[in-house]
Amino acid sequence: MNIWIVGTGYVGLVTGLCFAKLGHQVWCIDQDKTKIERLSDGKVPMHEPGLPELLHDQLALGRIHFAHEYTHLHAVDAAFIAVGTPPTERGEADLRYVFSVVEDLAKYGTPGLLVATKSTVPVGTAAKIRERFDRLGRSDIEVASVPEFLREGNAIEDTLNPHRLIYGVTSKTALTVLEAIHKNLASPVVVCEPPTAEMIKYASNAFLATKISFVNEIANICDRIGADVSQVALGMGLDPRIGPSFLRAGLGYGGSCFPKDTKALVNIAGAVNYDFTLLRAVVEVNQRQRMAPLYRLLNWFEDLAGLTVCLLGVSFKPGTDDTRESPSLDLARQLVAHGATVRMVDPVVKDAKVPGCGTDLSVTCDPYEGLLDADAAVLVTEWDDFLHLDWQRVKNLMRHPFWFDGRNVLDPDRLREAGLVLANIGRGV
Ligand code: UGA
Repeated sequence: MNIWIVGTGYVGLVTGLCFAKLGHQVWCIDQDKTKIERLSDGKVPMHEPGLPELLHDQLALGRIHFAHEYTHLHAVDAAFIAVGTPPTERGEADLRYVFSVVEDLAKYGTPGLLVATKSTVPVGTAAKIRERFDRLGRSDIEVASVPEFLREGNAIEDTLNPHRLIYGVTSKTALTVLEAIHKNLASPVVVCEPPTAEMIKYASNAFLATKISFVNEIANICDRIGADVSQVALGMGLDPRIGPSFLRAGLGYGGSCFPKDTKALVNIAGAVNYDFTLLRAVVEVNQRQRMAPLYRLLNWFEDLAGLTVCLLGVSFKPGTDDTRESPSLDLARQLVAHGATVRMVDPVVKDAKVPGCGTDLSVTCDPYEGLLDADAAVLVTEWDDFLHLDWQRVKNLMRHPFWFDGRNVLDPDRLREAGLVLANIGRGV
C-alpha cells in the first residue's frame, strides 16, 4: 500500500517506520523543513530505543520517504493524521493542526483516499472531519479513527505487536483498506463506529491514570499506618481481575498523554453536562502527589532557603528524553520558589526548561557531580543509572545525607548501611 503519515512526532514517525517495516511505501509529511531534512539524513529527533536503526534500514530499503509538502500524488491508499493536539488553556484538545491537515488532504488526496486519525482527538472529531471534507467537495474521501496505544520507550514493540487494533469505520471500503495495511499483525481487532474508537482511546488512558492515582492514595494511607504499598500492590496485582501493572506508587504520571487526555475527557464529559467526578479526583491526586518530596523536605529541614537539592531524573519516565509534564520540572519550580538551589541529573535530557523559573536549569549526566555538596537528593525518574550507585561514595559527597526515593526503587537496606537517611512513598519510612 502507499501511505501518507502527516506529522512526524512520536506517533507519526514510529507508525510510519513500522508500516514501512511491514512492507508498505510510506511518505512522512511534516511542515518542519529542518526536521524533514534531518530525518532524510537518518537522524532521529528523539530518544527512542531501536528507532535510529529502524530508520536507517527503511531508508536503505527505499520504503520510507520524508517531505515537507504533498508532492507524491500518485495513488495514495491511506493518510494517517498524527499531528499534535495540545491542550488549550481550558484543557480541551486544540484541533487546529488536525483541521489544517484536512484542508491539505482535501486539496491533494487522490480519489477514494482513506483518512484516519492517529492523534488522540475528542469524541466526535471524525464526524467533524467528515463534514469538512463534504463541505470541501470531497465526499469520496473515507474517514476513520484508528487510535494509537504505543508507549514511549517501547514504541516499536507496541506498534508491531499491539494488544489490540481499533478500527473506527463507517464503511466496508474503509475496513478493507485498514485490514490490508495491518494484515501482517496478529492482534485482536475491534471494529466499531469512529466515536466509539475515539472513546476507547480516552477511556484506556483515563483508566490507567486512575490505577496510578488509586495506588498513590493507598500509598499515602500506608505511610500513616505503617504498611508497605509495594507489598500491598503485589498482593492486589495477583488477582487477575486487578492485574499487577500500573500499580507502582510514586510521584504520579507525567508525559504528553495521561495529563492531557484525563483533562480532555473531563471536558468532553462536561460538554455533555456530565460531571466526571472520579476522573477529576484522579487529576487532583496526581497534581498533589508530585509535591510529596517538597513536603517531606520541609518537614525534615523546616526551611529550604540556601539548601542544594539534587533531582535525579528530568524525563517523565525512563527510556525517553521527553520532559513534557514531567514531575521533575514541577518539583524544581517549587523548590526554587522555596529558595533552594536545584541541580538536575539525567542520562539523556540535556537541559531543563522549568516553567516560571526564569533561566533554564543545567542538567548533568553524572550523578556524582550532581550530588556533590548537596543537602538532599530526590529520585524522580527510575533510570537504571540511579539504582546502583556507590552509596558510600554518595554519602561522602553530600553535605547532608537526606534521600527521597520518589519511585520506591532503591534498596533501603543498602542506603541505610551507607549512612544515608531514606524517605519514600508508602513504605512506612
Ligand atoms: C501512555 C499509554 O501507556 C499508551 O498506551 C498510550 O498510547 C500513550 O500514553 C498515548 O496516549 O499516546 P506513555 O505516556 O508513553 O504511554 O507512558 P506510560 O508508560 O504509560 O507511563 C505514563 C506515566 O505513568 C509515566 O509518568 C509513569 O512514570 C507513570 N506510571 C506508570 C506510574 O506512576 N506508575 C505506574 O505503575 C505506571
